[in-house]
Amino acid sequence: MPVATLTLPHVSQPPLTTKYKRPHHVIHHAPPYKSMEELAAEVKKLFEKPLADKRLFDLSSQLQVQYRESLQCSTISMLPSFQHTLPTGQEQGDFLALDVGGSTFRVALIRLCGKKDDSDGLQVRRVRSYAIDEAIRDLPGQAFFDWMAQRIGDMATEYSYITGTTNAFLRMGLAWSFPVEQTSSSTGKLLAMGKGFRASQGLEGEDVGELVMRGCRARGLNVAICAIVNDSAATLLSQAYRDPATRMSLILGTGVNAAVYLPLSALGPGKLGERPDKWHAAAKSVVVNTELSMFGKEIMPTTRWDEELNLRHKMPNYQPLEYLITGRYLGEIVRLVLLEAITTRGLFAGYVPEHLDEAYAFDTRIVGAFESDRSEGLESAQAAFMAAHPMLSPPTLAELNFIRDVAKLVSRRASAYLATALHAFWVVSSWNSDHQAGKFERTTIACDGSLMEKYPGFRKATQRCLDRLCALSGAETGTVTLQMAPESSIFGAAVAVSCNG
Ligand code: BGC
Repeated sequence: MPVATLTLPHVSQPPLTTKYKRPHHVIHHAPPYKSMEELAAEVKKLFEKPLADKRLFDLSSQLQVQYRESLQCSTISMLPSFQHTLPTGQEQGDFLALDVGGSTFRVALIRLCGKKDDSDGLQVRRVRSYAIDEAIRDLPGQAFFDWMAQRIGDMATEYSYITGTTNAFLRMGLAWSFPVEQTSSSTGKLLAMGKGFRASQGLEGEDVGELVMRGCRARGLNVAICAIVNDSAATLLSQAYRDPATRMSLILGTGVNAAVYLPLSALGPGKLGERPDKWHAAAKSVVVNTELSMFGKEIMPTTRWDEELNLRHKMPNYQPLEYLITGRYLGEIVRLVLLEAITTRGLFAGYVPEHLDEAYAFDTRIVGAFESDRSEGLESAQAAFMAAHPMLSPPTLAELNFIRDVAKLVSRRASAYLATALHAFWVVSSWNSDHQAGKFERTTIACDGSLMEKYPGFRKATQRCLDRLCALSGAETGTVTLQMAPESSIFGAAVAVSCNG
């Protein structure tokens, strides 16, 4: 039975609208009915309350029910790919890998050389990164794919230059960090895109590969899309190239997702859609894109700041777990807490620092800077904060400590919720383990994404919480391990092409 969302009395406060448009605007009427200390205690209570291990374990059981239902019949999550075998690690060739992430587009020339004793056989020969800012996210429909094609063209030119050829043919693999309904290993229907992107508007249901190729053909590029994989599946494939025992992966950056290699029997009868007889004859298992971000509604406890974020979101309720734990949202949750503190408790003397009144303006990297700064005066965190959000006079030490405490609470909750989602995922997909008898196979989850890689202490905190939850399931520490899989999207895109022959 779903647990009711943790709702708390809403503190009445002025609406965050036009009043705060201008920086350095003084909020004269900020009601001083509660002190900063009282607010700090309330924030702590709200973020920490759901995190007792037993409570998380119970949340995991509820998530397991959602996962199982989706494996049977969901059309938006637990999406099976066409990938029914994993790489051997001996695949070879040169490929162009495209990685469309939430905040970066990367185009890379990848060489697979085959694994040897002293090397994993995965080489990046050239890579170019392009930031995806709000203007690019806002490109509607085909305009976004044309923007991609232009960058693909630049790399194709470079390839011709380094190989001494003219317009040499390149096979491309696309790692797509959005949901896609695969219709073959190299085609897939575009589904609604989260992360603030507008590219799917008016194009939902069209083939993602064709949209990319349309832009490439218009530029006369000698390329072909030979594989499309979700970025979570790319992570799994790249790590499986290194270690054939890999069965699960996790991405945690701008968005969150996990992929798993499951026997076909784990999926409901309608989940595979139309596939050629040849595929059915060969396939026993399949790589499944879980779209983990979409789970957790009515399960994961939320605060009033989460609810505000959700209500103001372009796609409310679309990715409930993502809105609580990923790089796109941690900064935004902290920003909403700070704004309440400014406008109702006189934080920063009631002044709104520049840009802090703009949605998504508080970068999660600054949240991280507060956590990694161990100095007493929090000097480097203050510098990072003030560079992005100038204010008339610098914050006091007490104010800086408040920001740091909020940062910690928001990120600790994120790592605990992620561990819970992964624990549930491990329970549901440990098809070879006998949980009743307390027998568990060791599982490595291949990880990638900026939060896992760079956010101070995040991966360790997630691992510790995961260990405690697995212990409550009767498994010993080390049964489930998070292991970084570097450059997984670009390698995975190339490996996917090589697996398609
Ligand atoms: C998307 C997934 C993607 C994940 C990680 C989510 O927002 O829906 O498809 O794998 O982010 O990038």
